[in-house]
Amino acid sequence: MARHVVATVDDIPPGQRMLVKVGGREIGIFNVGGEYFAVGNRCPHEGASLCKGRIVGLVESSEPGSYQFSRRGELLRCPWHGWEFDLRTGKSWCEPDRTKVRSFDLKVESGGALVEGELQAETFPVVIEKQYVVIEV
Ligand code: FES
Repeated sequence: MARHVVATVDDIPPGQRMLVKVGGREIGIFNVGGEYFAVGNRCPHEGASLCKGRIVGLVESSEPGSYQFSRRGELLRCPWHGWEFDLRTGKSWCEPDRTKVRSFDLKVESGGALVEGELQAETFPVVIEKQYVVIEV
């Protein structure tokens, strides 16, 4: 797997997303309260551009007239037929054992860590302050 630097953390504020193209694939990167998740931009139901859907939470009801809202911003609703996917796992909320959107490993690394390599030449002090979102595809 190759690593790709796709953005700085400042490019994707909490609650926001960014669509990137890596290795010919469209991938959506989501910032959920400071945690980053990456899923493929193809709905496993009928192929809609899933990452353009609404970011929602979970509404549950234990009895008529009573409901609880939780997991704000952790579910992605497909714009075509409304299936919802868990951004943490990629699983469909309705059919978690059968339907899943492709998810990708993603890390946030400092600029200093990104430039470290195995072979070293004469070095000079350089300050790289930003943090970068790095995806493995
Ligand atoms: S294409 Fe996504 S729910 Fe149908």
